[in-house]
Amino acid sequence: MTAIDPARTVAVVGTGTMGQGIAQVALAAGHPVRLYDAVPGRAEEAARAIAGRLGRLVDKGRLEAADRDAALARLRPAARLAELADSALVIEAILEQLDAKQKLFRELESVVAEDCLLATNTSSLPVTAVAGALRRPGRFVGLHFFNPAPLLPLVEVVRGLTTDAGAADRARATVAAWGKTPVACADTPGFVVNRLARPFYAEAFRVHEEGGADPATVDAVLRECGGFRMGPFELTDLIGQDVNNSVTHSVYEAFFHDPKFTPSFAQGQLVRAGLLGRKTGRGWFAYGEGAAAPEPSTAEPCAAPPRVGWHGTPPPVCAPLRDMIEKAGVEIVRDRPPHGPEWSIGLPDGARLTLTHGEAATPEPAGTYIYFDLAHDYRACTRVALAPSEKASAADVRAAIGLFQALGKKVSVIGDVPGLIVARTVAMLVDFAEDAAGRGVAGREDIDTAMRLGVNYPRGPLEWGRELGLSWVRSVLWGLSREYPGGRYVPSLSLRRRAAVEESLL
Ligand SMILES: NC(=O)c1ccc[n+]([C@@H]2O[C@H](COP(=O)([O-])OP(=O)(O)OC[C@H]3O[C@@H](n4cnc5c(N)ncnc54)[C@H](O)[C@@H]3O)[C@@H](O)[C@H]2O)c1
Repeated sequence: MTAIDPARTVAVVGTGTMGQGIAQVALAAGHPVRLYDAVPGRAEEAARAIAGRLGRLVDKGRLEAADRDAALARLRPAARLAELADSALVIEAILEQLDAKQKLFRELESVVAEDCLLATNTSSLPVTAVAGALRRPGRFVGLHFFNPAPLLPLVEVVRGLTTDAGAADRARATVAAWGKTPVACADTPGFVVNRLARPFYAEAFRVHEEGGADPATVDAVLRECGGFRMGPFELTDLIGQDVNNSVTHSVYEAFFHDPKFTPSFAQGQLVRAGLLGRKTGRGWFAYGEGAAAPEPSTAEPCAAPPRVGWHGTPPPVCAPLRDMIEKAGVEIVRDRPPHGPEWSIGLPDGARLTLTHGEAATPEPAGTYIYFDLAHDYRACTRVALAPSEKASAADVRAAIGLFQALGKKVSVIGDVPGLIVARTVAMLVDFAEDAAGRGVAGREDIDTAMRLGVNYPRGPLEWGRELGLSWVRSVLWGLSREYPGGRYVPSLSLRRRAAVEESLL
């Protein structure tokens, strides 16, 4: 399917944050662009703001002055919707209200030509519901850009129930021609990114609410051990607690209160208190003059044990640890505990160290365990979290800390929360992604692309699941389910199916 000819006009309706960004993208692709906003003067204001941004690109040497001038010559504010009549594509970025969007598109339908594509930038309304108001809904798609649109490459191209395949393909080809990375997805709550990212926030908030670790420590572990660019607490302070919380609520409502999407009470309290993050000077953290930078809890230096036991074969992700321990000068001897996980490291005072499998350490009847968290890469990570059983001796906790410190890691000792921080988050992200893939929300590659580009994850969740082994992910989720009955952590049918297939191929 071919993209819309750059000689054809693109109209943007609603010229706030997103409308301006989208208009700038269409301009850069060579289209004549019309801007329309319901508030008189706003479209002109937006044109001036776009001119200012292009001017700054010229100052930085990233745009030729002649190209800026040519782009601005193609940009025109419109005083009435009727002036958008010759558009080949209209992208709406007005306020997030169904009836306002439906009313606008009904008016637009009587203005534009039959072959004009109509698109909404909604992030939470069903595309199918907006299209429901139209006489010809076949040409209606969702084009979900991310903020700031000129910089972020991802665009979710959402096909509503009544969208023609040709219209979705044409929209996808057009944003690809604009240099964006389109991801085709079905019209389901949160589309791909806003649906699949929910556990990243929810698990972190839960660990904090359960007293497992403070926000700065959770963030540091997800960054420095999990490989995420930002932690959920600092990120939601940046996004705005109100914005993030309302996405969570809208997806939770849309999925009929499925426990997998349950919002956080603690985040709700922030919103109720007006502590919305950076924009109000305080959210999870305080900002502004005199505010101390949040410090994660980090263990003091401890001596590494001279020798540790080694039993069984570690999961592939932990395989590098043996070599790292030996290189750190700690002797490894074979040992055999009477019970317990398939693989573990014996500490001098009798406790055993192993990767979390989703359950808390303390009720573990088969011995005394100190669990460590999943790392995105044990060689590269700079921090590891430990959750000791309450039965573990102080000497063994120090030995476990010293062992990871000898490998060059900072150590955060957290409460005995099931699945620690990274493991429970990644297991849920993988499960959500497998579930969405199984339901045909988007193609497998597109899901990973969306999560890498839309929220900067270090790996696509499906790729992560493959690397970890889906049977490991499933066992973490079953472990969590045993600790938290209620359905939230029950692995999806898609994940269980694929894990079974994976096992049959071994
Ligand atoms: N801000 C984001 O990060 C983001 C990201 C992706 C998608 N979105 C979606 O994009 C849309 C716009 O969001 P925004 O943040 O740019 O909002 P905004 O408040 O910055 O801008 C909205 C603009 O629409 C205008 N407007 C309102 N009703 C109108 C109407 N009936 N006709 C014409 N103009 C009208 C307003 O005057 C305003 O200028 C929303 O649907 C939102 O969910 C926002």
